Amino acid sequence: MCGIVGYIGHRNVSDFLIEGLNRLEYRGYDSAGVATFDANGAISLRKRAGRVCELSEAIDRDPVEGTVGIGHTRWATHGKATDENAHPHTGGNGEVVLVHNGVIENYASLRGQLQALGYVFRTETDTEVIAHLIAHHLDEQIKLGGEPESEDTLLKAVEVSLRKLKGTYGLAVLFRARPDLILAARNGSPLVVGVGPGEHFVASDPSPLLGYTEQVVYLADHEIAILTADRLDLRHRDSGRLSPSVQTLDQVSADIDKGDFEHYMLKEIFEQPQTIENAMRGRFEEDEATAKFGGLNLTAQQLRHIDRIVLTACGTSWHAALVGEYLIEEFARVPVEVEYASELRYRNPPLTDKTMVFAITQSGETADTLAAMRECQRKGMPSLAICNVVGSTIAREADGGVYLHAGPEIGVASTKAFTSQVTVLTLLALYFGRMRHLSYQAGKRMINNLKALPEVVARTLECHDAVQEIASRYLGMDNFLYLGRLYNFPVALEGALKLKEISYVHAEGYPAAEMKHGPIALIDERTPSVFVVPRCGIYPKVISNMEEVKARKGPVIAIACEGDREVADVADDVIYVPEVDEYLQPIVTSIPLQMLAYHIALLRGCNVDRPRNLAKSVTVE
Ligand code: G6P
Repeated sequence: MCGIVGYIGHRNVSDFLIEGLNRLEYRGYDSAGVATFDANGAISLRKRAGRVCELSEAIDRDPVEGTVGIGHTRWATHGKATDENAHPHTGGNGEVVLVHNGVIENYASLRGQLQALGYVFRTETDTEVIAHLIAHHLDEQIKLGGEPESEDTLLKAVEVSLRKLKGTYGLAVLFRARPDLILAARNGSPLVVGVGPGEHFVASDPSPLLGYTEQVVYLADHEIAILTADRLDLRHRDSGRLSPSVQTLDQVSADIDKGDFEHYMLKEIFEQPQTIENAMRGRFEEDEATAKFGGLNLTAQQLRHIDRIVLTACGTSWHAALVGEYLIEEFARVPVEVEYASELRYRNPPLTDKTMVFAITQSGETADTLAAMRECQRKGMPSLAICNVVGSTIAREADGGVYLHAGPEIGVASTKAFTSQVTVLTLLALYFGRMRHLSYQAGKRMINNLKALPEVVARTLECHDAVQEIASRYLGMDNFLYLGRLYNFPVALEGALKLKEISYVHAEGYPAAEMKHGPIALIDERTPSVFVVPRCGIYPKVISNMEEVKARKGPVIAIACEGDREVADVADDVIYVPEVDEYLQPIVTSIPLQMLAYHIALLRGCNVDRPRNLAKSVTVE
């Protein structure tokens, strides 16, 4: 949430900042801005409400110069999306200029104190408090005899200020007195520093760095990085100077291209045969008919000792967790609970050291998921991550985990990460199952089915034309129900979420039979129900639920197995997908629902990759 980018070196900073902000735009896109040092050491500011392209046009009309600067793309927390509230923000009389990601919880009281000292606030943001606070402490340090231009003075002013902040921040700061320096600091909001010859970068995630450098240093909480063109100094609030641990990125800039697709979301939907294969690569132990994982960091003995699993996540990842509950309970017979991370972090459920926690997250940065995981770790539970973004905070702080290897997911609505998460959860169910009750033959069958999955998913994508055509017939409807049972109940939730997120159409996901206890009252000719009804043990019962909707004149779209004539007799429209075993159905049936949301959104003129009010990586509470 909010994207930060910064550069110090020899390149044209404005080009780098705008390109970087475009790559970070998925984190927030209601306003954007940059601050750069010109050749005379003066700071130029450009800020615009709206998308990065509007800022870019403003800079084309009124260019900024230089080789040092910071930029920001905003997801508003405090204050409307206006030019004034856009970052960067200025402190004092322009001595300090900074960009911020996060939320300052005690901003109101700090603002009052600073106003009493004579600081004038020009915006409604919490961030302006940080800028004035640093300017104030800079002033204090100078009064105590600090040299205005000394790094020591600047650092002390920042350190004292940061200790007064309650909340989260990722910061990149410029000081008017030092055009040769950027300071970056983090607590709870991610920052990565890129290291190149005669240049340094800072960003909220590595995407702006791709194509510029592969060498990165991930900042941890309470760390401050001082960047000059030639030097990177790292300090921790309590332990002082640190030596940076430089890592090599394994992404390439091609990973963040749209290719021939009109939108990232469509590209990511079509990548799924490959991403599912990547999630499984090297993870089968064929001789033992089980799965294997390199990073769980727990012995088989420890894993057998586990008597309960908690899956915690937000959004789409939470829906994957629900599928995980069905999978693990069916195959491993271990009780599973699925917890919203935002609830778990403040609840106090009776968990023990025999409870294993998995934080499921595409980005590895979701604030609630991180906080829930930390809370579980504090209480002594082994806490692992199922995560896509390598080097993200959750991936680094977890006791172990499994990467999805799905590549960057840029469309704000998650698609390929969901099917990869479900694939990994299926592998985990197999692994835990084989440690307990699952037979060799059953394990073998699962492996064979999983290995066939990328090909099955490739065939599933063939429904695209049919989905597009169906979308055009339902685009005027303003309310949808999504209904499914057992493994397809979480799919119904996910289908409804996709539609809401990107087309702003109201949609509710429900267990198909539970519909009778409320949502059935909504059904009329203008409220379509999307039934996820592939063949399964209770297939006839779902058909009865469909009949109940039809009896009330509700239009029905069905997701059904290839060749299913019975469904076609009841539903108005059918989208056919290949038949797979029940436990693999979510991976197959979720795909047409991703496409349906995509096409309805597109036809309604919505910005599919950048839906209003949403952000890809929710780093605030
Ligand atoms: C945001 C995104 C969703 C995502 C959720 C959880 O709401 O818009 O697409 O599912 O965060 O994100 P995570 O990165 O933790 O999976």
